[in-house]
Amino acid sequence: MNTTEHYTHGHHPSVLRAHSWRTIANSAAYLAPHLVPGLSPLDLGSGPGTITVEFADRLAPGRVVGVDAAAEIVEQASALGADRPNLEFIVGDAYSLPFEDDTFDISHAHQTLQHVADPVAVLREMRRVTKPGGLVAARDVDYAGTFWFPESAGLTAWLDLYERVHRSNGGEPDAGRRIKAWALQAGFEQITTTASVWNFSNETDREWWGGMWEERVLKSAFAEDALSKGLATQEQLDAISAGWREWANTEEAWILIPHGEIIAVA
Ligand SMILES: C[S@@+](CC[C@H](N)C(=O)[O-])C[C@H]1O[C@@H](n2cnc3c(N)ncnc32)[C@H](O)[C@@H]1O
Repeated sequence: MNTTEHYTHGHHPSVLRAHSWRTIANSAAYLAPHLVPGLSPLDLGSGPGTITVEFADRLAPGRVVGVDAAAEIVEQASALGADRPNLEFIVGDAYSLPFEDDTFDISHAHQTLQHVADPVAVLREMRRVTKPGGLVAARDVDYAGTFWFPESAGLTAWLDLYERVHRSNGGEPDAGRRIKAWALQAGFEQITTTASVWNFSNETDREWWGGMWEERVLKSAFAEDALSKGLATQEQLDAISAGWREWANTEEAWILIPHGEIIAVA
């Protein structure tokens, strides 16, 4: 890991609650047509591993490997995928993956490039471990593109603070609009771009997403960073947290979170 980097979200339970909801359907649908049984994918920055486990089920008997820099999350993902013989989670660094050249049919990264200081180098490394003619696929949020209803000073403050905290850790919160450019800089010539969104509106989703941020701005690595780096005061964090609670409690509330996607031929 680049020495300036620090993973913005951390692995607080409020963060894991959000990340454990992710599936191929809601977070990797753009790649689904390419997920053919028998193929072997790498899932880089696999986190809690919910998408990786689905890869293992869908691509069996293909070998699936999840890699993440954080040992504690690799342990958790390994427990989730324990009964799948074609699945393995290992600790590793995106900049120097512990694999030979041309190992995988597909290298996939969901919301990983936004957290690294040099996403172009990571894309090159993904290409190195992918067989020629295989696919390098990535999907990332574009936080600045997020919009919601009704207007909320708390959520406006949240977005402003989120962007500053994320950048203070060496990442790029508006990665979605940049991944095509990063892929071109990494030397890919055949790149397909798409975009898709997360959209939360019904009571269950509002409680889940809004309740997650209500807690996360007070208790996770995000809160620690915001306070220790002088990016926000406790009073400001309290106001953002209250803003999320109010949003979650508002029946007409709605939010859209855009993502950019690429599939590049290795
Ligand atoms: C937002 S999470 C995404 C997890 C998973 N892909 C998902 O969507 O559910 C990003 C993950 O990337 C990992 N990560 C960040 N920098 C990394 C690096 N340099 N090498 C490997 N993993 C990294 C973090 O530890 C974290 O688990």
